[in-house]
Amino acid sequence: MSSIHHAKVVISGASSGIGRSIALALSKYDTELFLLGRNKDKLLETVKLCSVNKGVKVYYYLGDLGVESTARMIIEEIKKVFITPDIIINNAGGGSFKNIRDCTISSAEEAMRVPYFAYFYLTQGFINDLLKNGHGHIVNINTPAAYFPFPNTLTYSATRAAIRSFTRCLRLDLKGTPIKITEIVPGLTETDYFDNNGMSWNSQIPKLNRFLFKVLSPDVVAEKTVLGILKNKKTVTPQKMMRLLLVLSQYFPNLFDKLMSY
Ligand SMILES: NC(=O)c1ccc[n+]([C@@H]2O[C@H](COP(=O)([O-])OP(=O)(O)OC[C@H]3O[C@@H](n4cnc5c(N)ncnc54)[C@H](OP(=O)(O)O)[C@@H]3O)[C@@H](O)[C@H]2O)c1
Repeated sequence: MSSIHHAKVVISGASSGIGRSIALALSKYDTELFLLGRNKDKLLETVKLCSVNKGVKVYYYLGDLGVESTARMIIEEIKKVFITPDIIINNAGGGSFKNIRDCTISSAEEAMRVPYFAYFYLTQGFINDLLKNGHGHIVNINTPAAYFPFPNTLTYSATRAAIRSFTRCLRLDLKGTPIKITEIVPGLTETDYFDNNGMSWNSQIPKLNRFLFKVLSPDVVAEKTVLGILKNKKTVTPQKMMRLLLVLSQYFPNLFDKLMSY
């Protein structure tokens, strides 16, 4: 039996895009899925698509994960059904690309609430149960902008850098425990993210990025995420060369600032 077969999995942001594709991919492993999102119609569509696989059990819960009281309620609800999840996929995210000159305090706070606080609430809400259970896998979906930000994306990039640091701190804090942590770093992926956040498709993506990488399909990201869980990978970059850029950007931050501005 793989670490995924019959696993109890919580997936945030399962109502569309990458989260929906991950839910579909995991539904093929006779899992019990607890899918989270705000949009009922879209979330029910994911439930319906997953339920085609006979061995899967699907539950869903609606609510804004950026609101602490709602997140706590959802966590308690999950605990009633699942007791303790085996895998948590932190994926819910939003926020438009803003420059320091045109972002407001509230848009900056909003951007931090989801994804950063949503990831924090979900992980912190379950961590002691995972530890008591003696196993658990936390998967954080992140983005290359967490490693090398690009211009006019201050609120977006800063929140993703916070997630990067959160993921690293989890590794440090949970060292020596059986909890596994995987970070997924897909490049530009063809989802409704831009539409959902009031932007035009592909807006602000640096030329270099568009030149070097093909746009990913969310199903490919999901497939690589499943492999990452099975192989207990530390970091998964669905585009091979992206791994090299992530590493180089840590050694040459100034060069990357220049390249991203091009
Ligand atoms: N698309 C890309 O190019 C790309 C690349 C790298 C990383 N990512 C990351 O991948 C993740 C998923 O993005 P996506 O591209 O799949 O976009 P998407 O289709 O817009 O999906 C975003 C998901 O997050 C949920 N969500 C947003 N705000 C929420 C809130 N306040 N409370 C609860 N759920 C919330 C949405 O559900 P509801 O609308 O139902 O609330 C939706 O299911 C994000 O963290 C994003 O930063 C995306």
